[in-house]
Amino acid sequence: MKLFVLNGPNLNMLGIREPDIYGAQTYSDLEKFVRNVCEREDIEVEVFQSNHEGVLVDTIQSAYGNADGIVINPAAYTHTSVAILDALKAVALPTVEVHLSDVSQREDFRQISYPAMACLEQIKGLGFQGYEKAILLLKEHLAKTI
Ligand code: DQA
Repeated sequence: MKLFVLNGPNLNMLGIREPDIYGAQTYSDLEKFVRNVCEREDIEVEVFQSNHEGVLVDTIQSAYGNADGIVINPAAYTHTSVAILDALKAVALPTVEVHLSDVSQREDFRQISYPAMACLEQIKGLGFQGYEKAILLLKEHLAKTI
């Protein structure tokens, strides 16, 4: 079982950016956390981060034939990107959307998620644990389908 874990813009600034919202841990801590969960669960993983919408679209497309599922935190592109939604629909892989913060309790403009329309579930407000929940959810889902 192989997963792609994709992170969008400004998540490379974790630990520096708005620590009151996103916490003190860094992007490299997040990457380690994800790798540890996957190792424990015997899942192969590739972890990506990009600040660029087109690169995220390219990476989603490259998951086709190379991954069984996707965990994605599209960050700000969540609220704007039909291109990311279309890419997820194109590859049609089981996908879970994750947000570190609870977007439902934040600004109005964060209340829309385009990628969520192509996702099994949206997990929000659990910090790094949200990624663990998403990975376990995909593992359970894929165990039934592959
Ligand atoms: C975020 C929430 C988004 O609204 C925001 O633009 C981000 C991070 C989160 O993980 O909580 O960059 O996706």
